[in-house]
Amino acid sequence: MYSTTLALLATLTATASSVSLPPPSGPYGVGYTQHVFFHVTPNDPTPGSGNELLASIYYPTLSAPSLNTSVPYFDPISAPIWGEVFNLYASDLLSLTTSLQWQATPLTPSEAASNNVSALPTLIFGPGGGMNAFMYSSLLSDLASKGYTVIAYDHPGEAPYLTLPYNVSGGGVVGWDIYMPYNDSLIQAIYEFRRNDMLFLLSHDGFPSLVEQYGTYFNTSSYGAFGHSTGAAAAAGSMDRLESIIAGVHIDGGLFGDSVDAKLNGRPYLMMMNDVHFESDTTWPGFVERYKEETEVTGKGWLDWTTVNGAKHLAFSDIPLWVELLPKANGTDLVDLGIVKGTRMDKLVKKYVGAFWGWVSGGAYDEVLDGVVKEWPEVVYNETIRGV
Ligand SMILES: *[C@@H]1O[C@H](CO)[C@@H](O)[C@H](O)[C@H]1NC(C)=O
Ligand SMILES: *[C@@H]1O[C@H](CO)[C@@H](O)[C@H](O)[C@H]1NC(C)=O
Ligand SMILES: *[C@@H]1O[C@H](CO)[C@@H](O)[C@H](O)[C@H]1NC(C)=O
Ligand SMILES: *[C@@H]1O[C@H](CO)[C@@H](O)[C@H](O)[C@H]1NC(C)=O
Ligand SMILES: *[C@@H]1O[C@H](CO)[C@@H](O)[C@H](O)[C@H]1NC(C)=O
Ligand SMILES: *[C@@H]1O[C@H](CO)[C@@H](O)[C@H](O)[C@H]1NC(C)=O
Ligand SMILES: *[C@@H]1O[C@H](CO)[C@@H](O)[C@H](O)[C@H]1NC(C)=O
Repeated sequence: MYSTTLALLATLTATASSVSLPPPSGPYGVGYTQHVFFHVTPNDPTPGSGNELLASIYYPTLSAPSLNTSVPYFDPISAPIWGEVFNLYASDLLSLTTSLQWQATPLTPSEAASNNVSALPTLIFGPGGGMNAFMYSSLLSDLASKGYTVIAYDHPGEAPYLTLPYNVSGGGVVGWDIYMPYNDSLIQAIYEFRRNDMLFLLSHDGFPSLVEQYGTYFNTSSYGAFGHSTGAAAAAGSMDRLESIIAGVHIDGGLFGDSVDAKLNGRPYLMMMNDVHFESDTTWPGFVERYKEETEVTGKGWLDWTTVNGAKHLAFSDIPLWVELLPKANGTDLVDLGIVKGTRMDKLVKKYVGAFWGWVSGGAYDEVLDGVVKEWPEVVYNETIRGV
């Protein structure tokens, strides 16, 4: 009797101390799987092998979340590394839970067709430089819960540690030190391999061959590309080269390398920057001006350039959620995330990015896409370009 009570208490305590990311807002559960592609990066500058690429796939499922299939958020090697940077205890980061269900059953082709899910473009996402794709799980899960298939990719060797599934490379790859200084030539190299990673994943031997192999309904003819920081530049550079990418979202990145000259040919493009973005990068005005001139000539175009006041660069990820939801270890904030709290930033990014993909995919046009609204006064507009 006594030991049963103790065991029960232990269970309750474990439940109470685990912290969940905000639940996804869409009607579906979220399935999650990963695949390691063989893909060669010539002269890979990272400590990785240069012949692997990890794709994590988020997709809608009718399965209800279950403890048995729930995917952990952090891994035990990354947690102390990132915890130190943000003054969080590794044990707390490890306690974060997700709504992701490992390899849950996807919708059948007929279920997907009857719910209009198969008509959605597949979205592809690249994380910020040196970051892991899982650090955007909240946004990516939310999109999957609305029916999108979302591919998030990681370049092994770039983040301090990357877990690989199925014990590939012994289960993970140690990458660059988290405090390694980045210089311009390295940033250029990262942009190039990231862009090539995305182009590979959208080529026949990438995602489409996987979809063929598993016989799922996932859309392999139209894509939406987005990313944070370097990941955003890689998406722009990929749009320049692939017409199958029908639209893009650029979250607070410099337009590195040749992405600054990317020809979007009037494809819809949503840009979100932090309010001190210009301190480190001034590539946007030229890019936006060129887009505008193109629109004036062709009559085709849709672009928003927004600024999120009070949010710093890393606030456009899950990181401010960790910092808000978990107890802070001793010491002050080591990294400035801005004054917008994690839970608000989470809702904000989901709102704008969700509205954009919803409209691009044939859904209703949301007024947040056209100018400042009362609910989100921190989102201001620096440019809106509209074709005829
Ligand atoms: C979880 O796994 C256990 C052991 O394999 C199994 O008995 C149980 O039915 C599973 N529960 C769910 C909800 O799938
Ligand atoms: C699917 O799309 C069609 C055409 O846009 C619409 O009439 C129908 O209501 C949609 N069905 C669902 C389940 O959303
Ligand atoms: C893929 O997505 C596009 C854009 O939403 C849509 O027009 C197209 O019908 C979809 N493709 C398939 C095979 O469903
Ligand atoms: C995983 O890979 C490592 C290194 O190659 C190996 O030592 C280990 O036995 C493998 N584990 C499993 C479960 O296969
Ligand atoms: C940039 O950084 C890389 C990696 O630390 C280093 O190998 C390279 O020499 C640096 N380049 C310049 C121009 O400083
Ligand atoms: C908290 O401060 C103590 C004393 O300086 C130090 O030993 C400990 O490592 C710190 N803990 C964390 C998580 O920073
Ligand atoms: C963007 O617009 C806001 C509001 O008008 C303004 O305060 C800010 O300086 C603008 N940013 C840039 C980079 O022009």
